[in-house]
Amino acid sequence: METNPPSWTKSSWRQHPALQQPKWPDPKEYERVLGEVALLPPLVFAGEIRAVKAMLAQASEGNAFLLQGGDCAEDFSRCTAPAIRETLKVILQMAVILTYAGGKPVIKMGRMAGQYAKPRSADTEKIGGLEIPSYRGDMVNSPEPTEAGRRPDPQRLLKGYFLAASTMNLMRAFTRGGYAALHRVHAWNNEFVRNSPQGQSYEKLARQIDQALNFMRVIGIDTDIPQLNQASFYTSHEALLLGYEEALTRQDSTTGQWYDCSAHMIWIGDRTRQLDGAHVEFCRGILNPIGMKVGPKHDLDEIKRLVARLNPDNERGRLTLITRFGAKKIEAHLPPLLRAIKEEGAQVLWSCDPMHGNTYTAETGHKTRNFDEILREIRSFFEVHWAEGTVPGGVHFELTGDNVTECTGGGRNILDQHLSRNYQTTCDPRLNAEQSLEAAFQIAEMIRG
Ligand code: PEP
Ligand code: CO
Repeated sequence: METNPPSWTKSSWRQHPALQQPKWPDPKEYERVLGEVALLPPLVFAGEIRAVKAMLAQASEGNAFLLQGGDCAEDFSRCTAPAIRETLKVILQMAVILTYAGGKPVIKMGRMAGQYAKPRSADTEKIGGLEIPSYRGDMVNSPEPTEAGRRPDPQRLLKGYFLAASTMNLMRAFTRGGYAALHRVHAWNNEFVRNSPQGQSYEKLARQIDQALNFMRVIGIDTDIPQLNQASFYTSHEALLLGYEEALTRQDSTTGQWYDCSAHMIWIGDRTRQLDGAHVEFCRGILNPIGMKVGPKHDLDEIKRLVARLNPDNERGRLTLITRFGAKKIEAHLPPLLRAIKEEGAQVLWSCDPMHGNTYTAETGHKTRNFDEILREIRSFFEVHWAEGTVPGGVHFELTGDNVTECTGGGRNILDQHLSRNYQTTCDPRLNAEQSLEAAFQIAEMIRG
């Protein structure tokens, strides 16, 4: 049986340098709030974490596919039923497309219910001649560009916990209470997407699913079963604020093992994956599935050592390497990385984040990404894996169910000058519902190979 490694405790990260932590103005108040969080109930349970890990192990062997997606940074003010429902719907739609057209079970995982903290490239930013602290996510400070708004406030950790719990509660209700039943597949189509070519393709696929379900009923197969009436939906976020993650790390009463119960899966960002850093120290000891982002500036030797540190038992499903090289760089960086990991005999799940390596600033000043570049990186990801004989096992998106104009291109060919029509993100640009479906249809074809 797996155990937590020796000399690790949920606080041992405190002995290591922790990058990207806010400078809490009142450290006493901060620790007091963490004490409060530590007494609150876990957001997820060890049994669920073990279940998703087993599914991720399947994905690493090519028998399932990971679909991870949601906001870059969840916004406290958008923790509303419609916003949660719309994002959930898009992920369910994408999952149906990938399952039906791609022919594999899909692990549905939100960047939701806790994606509230952001690493930043600079501690401060200049706004109107004034230098103020950078926005670090709603769990730390406010996006409002004022000195007061940007002051880190530990009460936000508590608020983040409660909003994550509300989000989680609604997602559990939707996915367990009938909303995600397969016979409702038509109802997930969004009003503004319905008449687009992607919406129409989706309707066609939904009709085929209806027909298949109806056929089963007609010949007497019981369709009132959980596989058809419920969906498993998992949560994930970047484990950035280690005090908060520690406060939600709990010992499973049945096995005595430690799990971070803030989400099913957590990941380490590209900026905080130092071998002797606090984030790696914290993550090596909990038994959740762990993701690690790998960008173009990585060092192969360091990645090999990180893989060994984070998955010393070489357990399948434990570690997902999420590559984010950008369409222009993936072909140079991915093959040597795949070979190095293969040489080590390390079992990892490979997932592609086609968002973070493809960001640019439009002439209008908006941070954006182009749909064709995003798809180009995913296509290269599949092609490189096929050539190397490894498994392209998942994708990682920043997306929303809202009709935003944040990424250029796609069916409606959003151009730079259209970005200001509905640009809402407080952090990175997301695919809208229509662009997300379009991506899913194309990925389904790649999965089929
Ligand atoms: C993110 O996923 O929002 C992020 C900051 O990614 P990365 O660590 O890959 O830059
Ligand atoms: Co982002």
